Amino acid sequence: MKQLHVGLGERSYPILIENGLMAEIGKDLKVRGIAKRFIVIADTTVAELYGDAVLASLAQAGLPTDLITFPAGEASKTLATVAGLASRLAQAGLDRKDALIALGGGVTGDITGFLAASYMRGIPFVQIPTTLLAQVDSSVGGKTGVDIPEGKNLVGAFYQPRAVYIDSQVLRTLPKAELLNGIAEVIKYGVIYDSDFFCFLENHRTAILSLELPVLEQVIETCCSIKAKVVAEDEREANLRRILNFGHTIGHAVEADSGYHLAHGSAVAIGMVAACRLAVAKGMFSVAEAERLTDLIAAFGLPTKIPSTSSRDRLKAYLLTDKKTVAGRPFFVLPTAIGQVEITADVNDSLIDQVLTV
Ligand SMILES: NC(=O)c1ccc[n+]([C@@H]2O[C@H](COP(=O)([O-])OP(=O)(O)OC[C@H]3O[C@@H](n4cnc5c(N)ncnc54)[C@H](O)[C@@H]3O)[C@@H](O)[C@H]2O)c1
Ligand SMILES: [Zn+2]
Repeated sequence: MKQLHVGLGERSYPILIENGLMAEIGKDLKVRGIAKRFIVIADTTVAELYGDAVLASLAQAGLPTDLITFPAGEASKTLATVAGLASRLAQAGLDRKDALIALGGGVTGDITGFLAASYMRGIPFVQIPTTLLAQVDSSVGGKTGVDIPEGKNLVGAFYQPRAVYIDSQVLRTLPKAELLNGIAEVIKYGVIYDSDFFCFLENHRTAILSLELPVLEQVIETCCSIKAKVVAEDEREANLRRILNFGHTIGHAVEADSGYHLAHGSAVAIGMVAACRLAVAKGMFSVAEAERLTDLIAAFGLPTKIPSTSSRDRLKAYLLTDKKTVAGRPFFVLPTAIGQVEITADVNDSLIDQVLTV
């Protein structure tokens, strides 16, 4: 079993990665002594696929466990869902010695983490991420929360899990479009932190897309170790953690402008290419490296161009309302080389106009 460590003092936790890990989770939870009783939270799709396996694993370890579900999809990531789940926990008599298990994608992880942070002012929770995006990104780092009509992820808390259990086998049932959402974040890690990993992705694209598990596991381990290092250094996104937003400044604008019809991974892919164009225009990044990134994104089947239905002015308006905009200036994470980025708000309007022109 591969084990990584997120070093956050008393809030430190392990990330365990192994094919078939699902069956071992009960034993491991028992050894760690996280709680005497667990409630698994899952969306209806994931509960159907993996609920029984997790319940069986905990039952075998003698840990009493129940499962509570909510409808799959981002539309469930609301305060109303959290309120409904909190009532279910209270009705089940859950107390501060008990714990939650987030079994599912980023939506489940964000909801369950926020519920764990607020139920009885905080109970332990663990993550069993089942989408590639959740396995390489959202399950690590402790950002939890929900959407409100005024914006996505506007209500939430930093609240770290006690452990993250990653079983790459579950990706076999993941729809291709969901896999691609994770791939965009995977490519992001190569650009922001690790040029060798970027080369690895160039060389193993077919194996990744055909879900060769040893290769996928290596991808997940590398991404998690990068995220763990970044989070350990800057848990609350004061500085370094902002590099994880590479591709997300213009990406979020494009995603919002599509009315969230465009998949997050597609928006991030488009945002990464746009950030490269800004970096090239500023003379920070070479045309050849920008082409390498655009080629890799396209080779994975992700889009590289802002959709023709977008408009420059609308995209600019979205940039200004972004959480990453301070004092009217959006900040950008721009590459200086594959494997290295810089955070800057020093991008003049005409360059932004040029890149956002559809
Ligand atoms: N907390 C963070 O740091 C962080 C980081 C990135 C994204 N996010 C959040 O994550 C969310 C997106 O996460 P997501 O893309 O995982 O979405 P998701 O949780 O909605 O999962 C996508 C779909 O895949 C299904 N699914 C999950 N695992 C499956 C499996 N193994 N087999 C078959 N189907 C499966 C789900 O039922 C769902 O329909 C967004 O709300 C985003 O804001 C959070
Ligand atoms: Zn993202």
